[in-house]
Amino acid sequence: MTDITTALDNLSVAEGIQYLTEQYPGAVAFSTSFGQEDQVIADIIWKNQLPVRVFTLDTGRLFQETYDLIDLTMARYKQPIDVYFPETAAVEQLIRQKGPNSFYESVANRKECCGIRKIVPLNRALEGVKVWITGLRAEQSENRHDMKVIEWDEQRRLYKYNPLIHWGYDEVIQYLSEHNVPYNKLHDKGFISIGCAPCTRAIEPGEQPRAGRWWWEESHKECGLHG
Ligand code: ADX
Ligand code: SF4
Repeated sequence: MTDITTALDNLSVAEGIQYLTEQYPGAVAFSTSFGQEDQVIADIIWKNQLPVRVFTLDTGRLFQETYDLIDLTMARYKQPIDVYFPETAAVEQLIRQKGPNSFYESVANRKECCGIRKIVPLNRALEGVKVWITGLRAEQSENRHDMKVIEWDEQRRLYKYNPLIHWGYDEVIQYLSEHNVPYNKLHDKGFISIGCAPCTRAIEPGEQPRAGRWWWEESHKECGLHG
């Protein structure tokens, strides 16, 4: 762990990813939700032709604006993006039993939906993966504050590489603008962190970046993907 952390010290995002793909050939994957951070990382991966599998989890409940961005990104870079969907039978059973909006009723229901629509597909996407690249940033929440650039995920038995963990929001925006990277139009309407449509709202000035996620809940601002 110390070795890999030291090796990544002072490497740029592109160099860090390159290093990891050499250490773990064919076993490095990047999960994108097409958020601002993810668009930075995707741009770096594709411009540098880094051998990384890029995948997204389509929960079936994303915003139309997010689908528009997926479309735009596919057209712009012409690179493969693996799209993982939830298991049909599990979604059908959930909706039959609890209806389409059960997540508003309790935290347990919300976690059940996130489990079916995100976690199970994520686990499928990560099969055989040794390095999982994410767009997490420490500033995003208290829970993410102490996360490191590279961490060992004991449960999933893989390294989680968070190359933008110490980037500020302004750096992300600057990269997108300097490199003319496509971004989600919802960001122009007060949305910062964007997940599923029924579970995300715009935030007011002064609110925490993730305040718009599962806004009706008191404290839980994670879906289980990252804790
Ligand atoms: S979440 O846990 O609340 O949904 P967030 O939206 O902050 O996470 O995104 C953090 C990182 O998790 C992203 O940079 C991306 O790597 C991964 N991620 C989140 N949602 C998805 C998704 N739908 N598909 C793929 N990766 C995702
Ligand atoms: Fe379901 Fe909402 Fe979780 Fe999306 S964010 S998987 S709609 S509970």
